[in-house]
Amino acid sequence: MCGIVGYYGPKDPKEVIVNGLRALEYRGYDSAGVAILHQGEFKRVRAEGKLVHLEERLKEEVFDGHLGIGHTRWATHGLPIERNAHPHCVDGVSIVHNGIIENYAELRESLRAQAVNFQSDTDSELVAHLIAQQIKVGKNLLSAVLEVLPQLEGAYSILAVSKDQPNEMVAFKYGPPLIVGLASDATLVASDIQAIVPHTREVIFLEDQEVAHICGSQVQILDSRGEERSRTPVHIDWTQERAEKQGYPHFMLKEIFEQPRAVAQALAPHLDLENHRVKLKVELEESFLQSLERVFIVGCGTSFYAAMAGEYMIEGLARIPVEVEIASEFRYRNPILPANSLVVVISQSGETADTLAALRLVKEQGVRALSICNVPNSSIDREAQAHLYMNAGVEIGVASTKAFVSTLALLNLLAISLAKAKSGGELKAEPDLVQGLLSLPSHMETVLVHEKFFAEAAQTLKSFRGFLYMGRGINYPIALEGALKLKELAYMHAEGYAAGEMKHGPLALIDSEMAIIMLAPKDGLYEKTLSNLEEAKARGGQIISIGSGDDERLRQLSQHYLALPQTHWMMMPLLEVIPLQLLAYHVAESLGHDVDQPRNLAKSVTVE
Ligand code: AGP
Repeated sequence: MCGIVGYYGPKDPKEVIVNGLRALEYRGYDSAGVAILHQGEFKRVRAEGKLVHLEERLKEEVFDGHLGIGHTRWATHGLPIERNAHPHCVDGVSIVHNGIIENYAELRESLRAQAVNFQSDTDSELVAHLIAQQIKVGKNLLSAVLEVLPQLEGAYSILAVSKDQPNEMVAFKYGPPLIVGLASDATLVASDIQAIVPHTREVIFLEDQEVAHICGSQVQILDSRGEERSRTPVHIDWTQERAEKQGYPHFMLKEIFEQPRAVAQALAPHLDLENHRVKLKVELEESFLQSLERVFIVGCGTSFYAAMAGEYMIEGLARIPVEVEIASEFRYRNPILPANSLVVVISQSGETADTLAALRLVKEQGVRALSICNVPNSSIDREAQAHLYMNAGVEIGVASTKAFVSTLALLNLLAISLAKAKSGGELKAEPDLVQGLLSLPSHMETVLVHEKFFAEAAQTLKSFRGFLYMGRGINYPIALEGALKLKELAYMHAEGYAAGEMKHGPLALIDSEMAIIMLAPKDGLYEKTLSNLEEAKARGGQIISIGSGDDERLRQLSQHYLALPQTHWMMMPLLEVIPLQLLAYHVAESLGHDVDQPRNLAKSVTVE
């Protein structure tokens, strides 16, 4: 989603802002722009497409001011063209906006009635007009913003500047994140901590309906009525992982190869290695876990598929009923959350608007919420009452990979901990399960060897008309995840199915132009999965099967058989997903797609 960077300080604002926007590039965007003070006016430079186009235009530009704002736009209202790119500048006021103004039509009509001419098709431009109108009648920037705030409905984070106050910025938000960074001689505002950490670790996370008034290096936080609020900056303990590909052609491939480490890092804080026990470091008392009657797991996209796998783990091992739901459905269906429930919200970014709304709803109903996030201090992390961390390291590729396996590792730990709590603290299988978890990183290393196969097979695979990914039991959500990866990266038709459902419709799709990706490890449903594979083969489907160990039967039934190490059924998904990620990566790459930033997608989905 959109990225915001603002800077006031002694350095060249052009450098600071462009570097900041580069740090936010991974979020996904389709145009970019800056407005920087020069000779008392904001000079605006914008460009369609990638940041390099903006940089090209900025090459010859010089600015003598010390204040500027920048933006990467992910289009919501209006096409992704230069006219709609931010900043929006009206009568000396410049603003950048992330989110959606929901009463856009109403505001636009009212401004049109006042003979306002619009330069863009965006909802954001309206905010610039509204602030400029207030300044015209004598308000300063801060009072103008406070006047406009009650008129805005929707989800937004906005940074505004005015040429009349050349050392001030006003930032305000309701929904998407905004962070103020306090350096010794400079102040920054950004939508993402990554743009701030090169300059300072002292930050203030703005709360909803708060306004930050930045005047030089002084920062005042106000509520939406203009009453001052006391906020102490927090120190961010964040080692900035440089967004470098380290020799890989894409971040995604690097992140796929980082998965063994990601899993080891997710597990490490929670394992008692001496005794082969799980000691979950989480703010949930043993008595609460013992009395737990129901678990809900909520997320979007890949995080939702991890949630589905979690359902199989927790129900299978701990025998506690689990309900899994897509956050955008959960938040609007008035869910019944009994007492003695735990709601787990999963979000790599910790900023997904629907997941955050689901979390807030759960808290309103007085039910405990546990977050599983990769980004410490993200909105979801800050608002949840209990926390588990993926510890996967910064994930830059829009397609989630290492965060997914880290989440699966944490869900294994949660299932084991709940099973232990339910059985009075003792779980016979615990040492074996812990051994299985400890072996995962090395098993994952061996699976990564299949990369060569997909690098070569991509040329053939890309000519298929469609892909059907199938599995049963816990392998089913992994089939869904494999199909999602291919859709988002290769833009090809792919469906994930529970293999047992094949006869109920999808069998009609199968012919020699359809690739079947079958997940068939030797688990309790192996024989049934093999029957489904026979049915697909009989209809001429081209089969790649992924199983465990040496499996002659699978080999016979398939054009290609990929053998994974055999491990516990709860851990197989962490191995199975790797070939599916590699398949999607190589097919997309051979089609010449932008693997790290697929079209139309954003890393952090901060609007619903
Ligand atoms: C994953 O490859 C996708 N880009 C997407 O489905 C993602 O998982 C989803 O938007 C949820 O994001 P979150 O984990 O940051 O909440």
